[in-house]
Amino acid sequence: MCPVSEPVAIVTGAASGIGLAVTKHLVAKGWRVIMADIDETAGMQAAKELGADQAIFHRTDVGLWADQLSLFQCAWQWSGSGRLDLLIANAGIFRPDDICDPSPGDDMPKEPALDVLRVDLFSVFYGLKLFVYYTKRNPSPGGKVVVTSSPTGIYPFPFAPEYSSAKHGVIGLVRSIGPRLQNQGIQVNAILPGCVLTGATPSHIQSLVPDDRWTSLAAICKAYDTFVDDQAKYFGQCLEVSVDKVYFRSPPNYCDDAQAFVSSDLWDKLGY
Ligand SMILES: NC(=O)c1ccc[n+]([C@@H]2O[C@H](COP(=O)([O-])OP(=O)(O)OC[C@H]3O[C@@H](n4cnc5c(N)ncnc54)[C@H](O)[C@@H]3O)[C@@H](O)[C@H]2O)c1
Repeated sequence: MCPVSEPVAIVTGAASGIGLAVTKHLVAKGWRVIMADIDETAGMQAAKELGADQAIFHRTDVGLWADQLSLFQCAWQWSGSGRLDLLIANAGIFRPDDICDPSPGDDMPKEPALDVLRVDLFSVFYGLKLFVYYTKRNPSPGGKVVVTSSPTGIYPFPFAPEYSSAKHGVIGLVRSIGPRLQNQGIQVNAILPGCVLTGATPSHIQSLVPDDRWTSLAAICKAYDTFVDDQAKYFGQCLEVSVDKVYFRSPPNYCDDAQAFVSSDLWDKLGY
């Protein structure tokens, strides 16, 4: 296989919704994309439409380490001499709560089904670890990671607490690891899309959201560009997208000097 000069990206959850829109957006800008998803039918069809030189599909359950290992190996081999520039860690599922109303009647509660944490949070750890490993071996070491979080990762979301916890977790990871990976030439940031009409939008919610409260896929793609563009220099930043506007979201201020010391100055002294 010939080495490629075009930049190479992995997009997870690429068979539909935001992931598919971002994949098409990247391909239109000259990227080659490995599309990862559990939906083999939709993923294969989408990759075929984009053309084998520009996109391939790799069946991946992002919540499984072995699947992500195979995904990254495939991406590295596809690029010929070895090249990986970008990970869009986007795959996610939405589930209602499994904690507040644990069991009908007097039955003992069952172990909670926390697949949301596996798919929406643990998967990002897996992808990051593999991305760091491979991009160290790039001809020019380093690369970019953009994680799809959510505004439910900064606001309370009683409708789906596990989902909100996963999205909060992802933001904690991005803000903490972003500055750590800066010296390895890796930029890790997050996009927090507002309400976008996709396969993940529950049908009973769709009819409750007025037309002027939806965020478009075009606005989301533009927000990804902020972190993906060649000139981008961001480390651990979160960009919220609401309707057609974007907002950088900072962590809260430290409550006092003691907290500023133990949460920031101390780690600066230790070189983090
Ligand atoms: N739609 C919204 O309003 C909205 C808002 C904020 C954040 N998000 C986030 O955006 C991301 C994309 O969601 P979407 O709205 O495009 O939904 P979507 O359902 O259209 O797309 C999600 C994709 O992820 C895939 N997927 C699910 N589980 C997977 C797994 N274990 N491994 C690999 N792929 C898997 C699905 O097959 C699907 O193709 C998610 O992380 C979601 O939480 C969505």
